[in-house]
Amino acid sequence: MKLLIINGPNLNLLGKREPTIYGNQNFIQYYEQLKTDFKNIELDYFQSNHEGELIDKIHDADVKYAGIVLNAAAYTHTSVAIADAISAVNIPVVEVHISNIFKREEFRHVSRIAPFCKGSISGFGLDSYRLGILSLLTEREEIQT
Ligand code: DQA
Repeated sequence: MKLLIINGPNLNLLGKREPTIYGNQNFIQYYEQLKTDFKNIELDYFQSNHEGELIDKIHDADVKYAGIVLNAAAYTHTSVAIADAISAVNIPVVEVHISNIFKREEFRHVSRIAPFCKGSISGFGLDSYRLGILSLLTEREEIQT
């Protein structure tokens, strides 16, 4: 089983960016840990600061992956184009956020992508990604951590 993690803008700066909100850990280190923890699944990772590249990757993932764990970052709140890309593919997409977007500024309370996702996970730090993976495995009844 293959799953894809996609991170949107500014998430390449995790570990350095606003550590009081997003923590001190670099995403690549966390991703390596996830690959060790989920040995029975094939995990791939993609990050881009560009909306079109994120859309291309979502299109490209259809067929190739069983699901996507997506942190669209700031595009969550603005992008009809990413929402449409999620609707256009046939694989489940789980929305994740490191911070609890509902505890933050009001503009973050709206997710343009949430209605098109399988579900949303917000506020568990980097472990939101782990929970996102587990939700896709649970859906397929293949929990093997
Ligand atoms: C975020 C929350 C978004 O509001 C913000 O723009 C981000 C990160 C999160 O993971 O908590 O860049 O998606």
